[in-house]
Amino acid sequence: MIRSLIKSIRKQEIGSSFLISGWVEKVRDHGGVIFFDIRDSSGLIQVVVEPENKELFQKSESIRMSFVLEITGLLRNRPEGTINESLASGELELVSSEIKILSKSNPLPFQLDEHSNVSEEVRLKYRYLDLRRPEMQSNLKIRSKVNHLIRTLLIEKSFIEIETPMMARATPEGARDFLVPSRLYSQKFYALTQSPQLFKQMLMIGGFEKYFQIVKCFRDEDTRKDRQPEFTQLDIELSFVEEEDILSISENLIKKIFSEILNKEFGNFLRIPYQDAIRDFGSDKPDLRNPLKLEEVKDIFLKSSFKVFADPAKNEKARIVALKINQEISRNKIDEYTKFVSSYGAKGLAYIKVNDPKDLENGLQSPILKFLSTDEIASLADRLNLSTGDTVFFGADHKNIVNDSMGALRERLGSDFKLINEDEFKFAWITDFPLFDEDLKGNLSPSHHPFTSFNGGIEELKKEPSKVVAKAYDLILNGSEIGGGSLRISDLKEQMEVLSILNINENEANEKFGFFLEALSYGCPPHGGIAFGLDRLIMLLCKQESIRDVIAFPKTQSANCLLSDAPSLIDPEQLDALSLKLIEEDS
Ligand code: AMO
Ligand code: AMP
Repeated sequence: MIRSLIKSIRKQEIGSSFLISGWVEKVRDHGGVIFFDIRDSSGLIQVVVEPENKELFQKSESIRMSFVLEITGLLRNRPEGTINESLASGELELVSSEIKILSKSNPLPFQLDEHSNVSEEVRLKYRYLDLRRPEMQSNLKIRSKVNHLIRTLLIEKSFIEIETPMMARATPEGARDFLVPSRLYSQKFYALTQSPQLFKQMLMIGGFEKYFQIVKCFRDEDTRKDRQPEFTQLDIELSFVEEEDILSISENLIKKIFSEILNKEFGNFLRIPYQDAIRDFGSDKPDLRNPLKLEEVKDIFLKSSFKVFADPAKNEKARIVALKINQEISRNKIDEYTKFVSSYGAKGLAYIKVNDPKDLENGLQSPILKFLSTDEIASLADRLNLSTGDTVFFGADHKNIVNDSMGALRERLGSDFKLINEDEFKFAWITDFPLFDEDLKGNLSPSHHPFTSFNGGIEELKKEPSKVVAKAYDLILNGSEIGGGSLRISDLKEQMEVLSILNINENEANEKFGFFLEALSYGCPPHGGIAFGLDRLIMLLCKQESIRDVIAFPKTQSANCLLSDAPSLIDPEQLDALSLKLIEEDS
């Protein structure tokens, strides 16, 4: 008999015999009748062993959870009252006539149907067992479907898939590199690519006009729920295009994926210039399901005698914002929020509670009211359109600190007060990024990467680099940056100018990526592209909280593989062969 997948066994075939194989997910002994729930990759069905078949019954008594069985049995309806509505095969059972034990199993370290009570450490240590759970099976099947869709849709549009090296020189995406020592060239190292950025640009110089790749990238940075040291990008690059072409191709691709996988349709994605996102949300990846907004109130305090506001009001690098929420919030909770914003560098968290917005003299409650003039309070009330029950928080400091702390508080309030509809998907393009980010000390770093093209010419770039706008864009979804890209510099002189602003002189530039700079001098077409964080995209499609749940064998938050115990020590002989010597850590 040929093996049937459990999913293919249907009610119409009652009375037929089937051969199935799979794992025992549950064993129940009901007064002389044994029941097994058998699962294969397609589904689950109940198998019955009746006592009349003495030999089979005796054999079945030794069968435990997780044994792998091959079962021949007759399909019948379950008796009335024993139907399981939540199962596709819930009305059916197989009455076994033959059972072959293909493999035995030790008792499992955790029950597969109770994963919510099992720590993630245990799940990751025994990932191969965790993968048997329907949720993980479904996540990885969706992942495979998305990869297939991407390939089909892009190849239909004349893109070609090209693999680029993972062992290369350091690529400048801003994270630390993972290094691989070379055995053949002692003292030399490969870097695992942080992205195929330079290679895909050289593919454009190499005459391929539409490239894509589903590619592993490696970045040695702090791991979080939506970050892994080793992750996957959908990487895209095109020649002879404008920003609009890239946005449109990307948007259509993402819409098609959501339509095919979740049956959800979307109109044009919102476009928010970077400066507006920062002004309204303090973040360039705001969760737009959250209705709260930052309100600029700096101008109100220009002549204030309240020092906490007066100093930032006069400082052009500072911001003063108000964040209003229609919730009465306890003192304890406010203390908790004050501590929370301090972790982002905020020195305090001023607040006002609104009892009666019509009575500005007695209807407000706050330790800072005594420092504010009647005019300031009236202007605030007018600007913020106060209502009874509002609590207003204030952040006043260097704009980076205010954006980080008040942006984070906005997200925190959204989650604490359940202001977010978990079933919604809110996409937006963030556009018009600055070419450089400026830190508290005024140092510049690339806001995207140093190969990003910009508005205006070299003269403007030299004059006021921090004001230059990049031809760069990110796609955000529900507070997550799921993709980012840019048009690239295709002119060597412009490229050298950007590098020099970043304090990378010609020698250093040639040392680091001279090969690429040389390539720019042999006819480089105008080009640009984008890369999507595929793990993040699939996490959101699968409604998971962590990208670990859509990766078969992920690393933990502390970058370990609990299953294989990597990273690990290596043999002294291997070190010798690589001409490496370990330095003892100070104990
Ligand atoms: P960027 O660095 O923005 O751009 O990366 C593109 C997308 O990759 C995802 N991503 C990550 N996902 C999981 N774990 C990580 N550690 C991680 N880091 C990034 C994000 C991000 O939006 N070469 C450019 C793209 C380009 O310009 O075309 C690049 O790599 O979703
Ligand atoms: P202080 O004068 O430092 O006691 O502060 C008075 C109030 O302003 C307190 O509620 C502080 O939490 C708040 N506060 C202090 N510094 C800041 C700041 N940088 N931004 C917002 N509120 C602040």
